[in-house]
Amino acid sequence: MATKRYTITAALPYTNGPIHIGHLAGVYVPADIYARYLRLTGNDVAFICGSDEHGVAIPMRAKKEGVSPQEIIDTYHGIIKRSFEDFGISFDNYSRTSASIHHHTASDFFVKLYEQGDFVEKVTEQLYDEEAKQFLADRFVIGTCPRCGYEEAYGDQCENCGTSWSATDLIDPRSTITGAKPSRKKTKHWFLPLDRYESFLREWILEGHKDDWKPNVYGQCKSWIDDGLKPRAVTRDLDWGIPVPVEGGQGKVLYVWFDAPIGYISSTKEWAAREGKDWEPYWKDEKTKLVHFIGKDNIVFHCIIFPSMLKAHGDLILPENVPANEFLNLEGNKLSTSKNWAVWLHEYLQEFPEKQDVLRYVLTANAPESKDNDFTWKDFQARNNNELVAIFGNFINRVVVLTHKYFAGEVPSASAFSAYDDKVMTQLRGFPERIAKSIERYRFREASQQLMNLARLGNKYLADEEPWKLIKTDRERVQTIMHVALQIAAGLAILSEPFLPFTTEKLKKILNVTPSPVEGSLAWDTVYVKEALLPAGHQVNKGELLFGKIEDEDIQKQLDKLEATKKANEAANKNVVPQKETISFEDFTRLDLRVGTIIEAQKMPKTNKLLVIKVDTGIDVRTVVSGIAESFKPEDIVGKQVTVLANLAPRKLRGVESQGMVLMTEDAEGKLVFVNPDEVGVNNGERIA
Ligand code: 2FM
Ligand code: ZN
Repeated sequence: MATKRYTITAALPYTNGPIHIGHLAGVYVPADIYARYLRLTGNDVAFICGSDEHGVAIPMRAKKEGVSPQEIIDTYHGIIKRSFEDFGISFDNYSRTSASIHHHTASDFFVKLYEQGDFVEKVTEQLYDEEAKQFLADRFVIGTCPRCGYEEAYGDQCENCGTSWSATDLIDPRSTITGAKPSRKKTKHWFLPLDRYESFLREWILEGHKDDWKPNVYGQCKSWIDDGLKPRAVTRDLDWGIPVPVEGGQGKVLYVWFDAPIGYISSTKEWAAREGKDWEPYWKDEKTKLVHFIGKDNIVFHCIIFPSMLKAHGDLILPENVPANEFLNLEGNKLSTSKNWAVWLHEYLQEFPEKQDVLRYVLTANAPESKDNDFTWKDFQARNNNELVAIFGNFINRVVVLTHKYFAGEVPSASAFSAYDDKVMTQLRGFPERIAKSIERYRFREASQQLMNLARLGNKYLADEEPWKLIKTDRERVQTIMHVALQIAAGLAILSEPFLPFTTEKLKKILNVTPSPVEGSLAWDTVYVKEALLPAGHQVNKGELLFGKIEDEDIQKQLDKLEATKKANEAANKNVVPQKETISFEDFTRLDLRVGTIIEAQKMPKTNKLLVIKVDTGIDVRTVVSGIAESFKPEDIVGKQVTVLANLAPRKLRGVESQGMVLMTEDAEGKLVFVNPDEVGVNNGERIA
């Protein structure tokens, strides 16, 4: 097998909160499977990550908790790094962007582009909070998204439709520091003129990666490029971040999304220095494969902006693939750090000690690879009890117990194989390639199911051959059966490592085989060969159970915890948004609010959020475009009576004129509901929006 060099990066997590299952399923578990697999197959791998410690999220959290930003990053960097280690994410290096090596690397990168003339310097009007005496950008501003109408879009990105914005693009912006309506003030910044990279991006992505990038990633890139790329400011007026290292940069810092991806390079440098290696081939050699594992909200940064920076730099390689995942939900609701709607990794590790592989397996088997998926505790329990315990664990246990019972733990020699034995051995030899192919195509769900199929094959073989019956009459045949079954067990020990690294280790101890997989007798490749993986005469150890059953009460405890979170959020929701400015009766009478009936509804093509509905208002039948598609299916709302603001000035959304507004509010769980006295679950005082 030819050895290749790989630089594998996993998105640098922000140090403003701990890691939860959404991060794991989207980024870290698939990246780890990939890295472990590549190491096992003899490749040269640098698996790189670190904490993302700049950006406004950090000082915002610090302000909220009344501590310094440094305290925030130190606390969460510690929690995150430790939980990754305990969970078995096998980073070669976990760095942090506050490290001086990163400050130097990012500064030098900026200076190189500056000196090459790759930036455009512009004085523009930016949003300014007079009360806080601060420029506002990114998460310091919220406002209405010009594309989807979502009212809580951030200054850098609308989380509702994923569009990336500059703060000045938002409609009705307001400061998240003081709530004030910002003024505009002139300030100088450096912009990366993305428009200059359009033809490069078209050729590299749209022509070059049409077939090998995931459709969700390719599609987002295409729509970005087709929408027209604009220059993006890569500096900010902030005091938390990496100082702008050029003339006129005083009091300004690099934009967090400029410095964070450079963190991959700094972290590689830190690793190489520690290991006595040269970092450069990992970022400069065209033969190195660079792969970025990220969540879907990071696609534009890793596929458009960072590659444009790399291209401008000139000496650095581009990613070969960016296998971004969709999102994982928890028990039907969006994971949310601020609402504490999450399964936190550090808590899981305490509550389910020694069960890292169970979570890894469940998150892989149900990974949000091509669409958003749901994590439920019941599914977690079922996958553990019905698959890991009943299939994988049960097979190994039977093999080991029977080998000890009949042959004192010694691998028996096989006499002539039956046709069935041959078939099973041939099947066994087919698994490494099949699993490898799935992993290499970033289909980790499929790969994990194939692994489970190998355990199924073993179980079925034993169940069909029934050595426990034959032992009384045909000991020689039982020798062959157990010989074959032990080869399957050894195959599982090798092939499970990327998915279930803790289990692999236990299994290798049980089978008494070398823990070093790459060079040893049990390398990935050896599963292909005809000779036995475990030769006759090899002594296996006494077994221990690989997986334990998860009881209903363990699951109930977790569900109760979520229920308590839900209640706490409901109580917090009662702290309703303050009342708006008083209006006169006259103002009120200008609103033409009517009861209407929805008579037709359909999804707006190419969006997830918008429905185009026809409403009978009593005056006429009119079209309203409403951002409610995630809360309702079109067929469920036809015939519903709704409150309509009839005299709202028409406006075009995605080319369709919307002639009014259907009034909605959120229930206690944040789902949209119609403003209709028959609806239940609406909190009094909830804003009508
Ligand atoms: O979305 C996030 O959590 C970012 N901190 C990811 C950064 S990835 C990289 F570019 F550093
Ligand atoms: Zn939007």
